[in-house]
Amino acid sequence: MGNIGLCFTSVGRRHFACSVFVYFACFAVSRMKGIFLTFEGTEGSGKSTQISLLTKRLELLGHTVLTLREPGGTPIGEEIRYTLKHSHQNHAMTNEAELLLMNASRAQLVRETIRPALAEGKVVLCDRFYDSTTAYQGYGRQLDLKTVRAVIDFAVGDTRPDLTFLLMISIEVSESRRLSRQEALLFDVSPADKGPGGHTKLPFSDPLRDRMEEADRSFFERVAQGFEAIAAAEPQRVRAIDATRTVEAISAEIWKQVEPLLPAAR
Ligand code: TMP
Repeated sequence: MGNIGLCFTSVGRRHFACSVFVYFACFAVSRMKGIFLTFEGTEGSGKSTQISLLTKRLELLGHTVLTLREPGGTPIGEEIRYTLKHSHQNHAMTNEAELLLMNASRAQLVRETIRPALAEGKVVLCDRFYDSTTAYQGYGRQLDLKTVRAVIDFAVGDTRPDLTFLLMISIEVSESRRLSRQEALLFDVSPADKGPGGHTKLPFSDPLRDRMEEADRSFFERVAQGFEAIAAAEPQRVRAIDATRTVEAISAEIWKQVEPLLPAAR
């Protein structure tokens, strides 16, 4: 009996020591967990402006911020971005290839950058994430939504945004901002790159050309409907923001929702 008692005591001690270790390990991991915020919306919705304002505000408070974009954000991802948007080979790209390339870039970004940054306790801000795939490839290109979801799940695993800001503007505003952005880019082309009569040469290999923006209006209408459906389905995570207001008003609304999530500055 004495031996059995001794045996239980040492097992008990070991068990206790293990529990204490696991408790402190979990505590350390949870303290290091960063925050993952994503920004979504149609072209010209002002995501970049809001991301840069939020970055400055967070950094002033002492947080370490990592800003990323999709597709892209890693060396491999940026090559995929070029293929998706600007490559002279991309005309014949199928919708299925587009879906997989978006998610190849994402799978790389999640493992190479996002997970390590969150483990270090950083605030990660990402210009687009998987809601863009649902909106553009699911609703816009009309690929089967169940398949789209399965591909996204494979790419991201359990890495999900804590909060997503969906900047909402009308299709007309988005269209006019997209066109004026394209005009500004053309205007910026150096004279050496201009063709006869001062017209910009836009061969299909031109990095200023964006395949994603060549879709017709009905595509962008479906994308906008897709974003609305996502916001309606997940109101806890996806916060729809009226982005037709001033930059300051939008930024204040975003800040109100980010502030409560922040850990003490490190
Ligand atoms: P942007 O960085 O200028 O917003 O360009 C990214 C483009 O790629 C934009 O047209 C939206 C599109 N896109 C998708 O179609 N699916 C996706 O999953 C992502 C992240 C972006």
